[in-house]
Amino acid sequence: MIRLIDVYKDYEGYEAVKGISIEVKEGELYVLLGPSGCGKSTTLRLINRMVERSSGDIFVEGEHVDSIQVETLRKKMGYVIQSTGLFPHMDVAANIATVPHLLKWDEKRIRERNREMLELVGLEPEVYLKKLPRELSGGEAQRVGVARALAADPHILLMDEPFGAVDPISRLRLQKEFKEIQKKLKKTVIFVTHDVEEALLLGDRICIMRDGIVVQEGTPEQVILKPEDQFVEDFFGKEGALSLLARFKAREYKEELKVQGEPLADDASLKEALSEMILRGEDRVALNSGSISLAAIMKLIRGEHT
Ligand SMILES: Nc1ncnc2c1ncn2[C@@H]1O[C@H](COP(=O)(O)OP(=O)(O)O)[C@@H](O)[C@H]1O
Ligand SMILES: [Mg+2]
Repeated sequence: MIRLIDVYKDYEGYEAVKGISIEVKEGELYVLLGPSGCGKSTTLRLINRMVERSSGDIFVEGEHVDSIQVETLRKKMGYVIQSTGLFPHMDVAANIATVPHLLKWDEKRIRERNREMLELVGLEPEVYLKKLPRELSGGEAQRVGVARALAADPHILLMDEPFGAVDPISRLRLQKEFKEIQKKLKKTVIFVTHDVEEALLLGDRICIMRDGIVVQEGTPEQVILKPEDQFVEDFFGKEGALSLLARFKAREYKEELKVQGEPLADDASLKEALSEMILRGEDRVALNSGSISLAAIMKLIRGEHT
């Protein structure tokens, strides 16, 4: 779907990307994770040619990026950035309609699409369509940024620390909502972040970068449970396993056995289930039907679940 082969980027003598080869599959949410300055944003921008590579090849949906007109290439891809990049003098409706306008959709279709997109990201159209960006909270602005990127129904989404600037509580909500949206839409997403929890929560696969190279690539379980070197292990830190548990829903590891006590919320994660076990001093807590056990969590951590 998207393939980078031995790609380099040299900014006037400074090598920001040094031979990256990755392949992102259709419908996958692929995370570029690493410390600030390791070349994540550069790698993302090489794909839509906001930055031109120094050498190597990039293919998008089977076509070499050099053989596609830049405007055509960018229209294939929604792009979401941290500061949202909303046009300040345009209202929410006009912002969302940016690409549909470029594509010359008719007004009726654009109006319907605006509403559909706002509903998708959890904002009431009547309330938000006519607002200006400065009248939005950080979280609302990010939602509009996501709505705008999705408006023309691109196959591909490039997201650069999209939730980085919002407060921690709104961020977690946005992450969970985005995960649900992605489950429905199944876009091919490349998602840049330096936030370990975010990467583990959202990524189907995670590519860990350092100083312009890839140090490890794998599923969240693989990178946490089998770090290939000290850098990766240190990057995730001692709480990496807990962050990994945040990714899974307790109900997916449910056992039939019923136990006493207040059942966990239906969407509780394994991390929350473990926290409840510690608080209650039990090795099993109730779910709405059945229960979740410490043993099941340990099995997952040992890689024994199927
Ligand atoms: N336009 C530019 N000109 C010169 N150096 C740049 C430019 N953009 C980024 N860099 C440098 O390239 C490196 C990687 O940057 P970037 O890709 O933005 O990293 P990340 O997104 O991982 O924080 C950094 O050292 C940064 O200072
Ligand atoms: Mg960056």
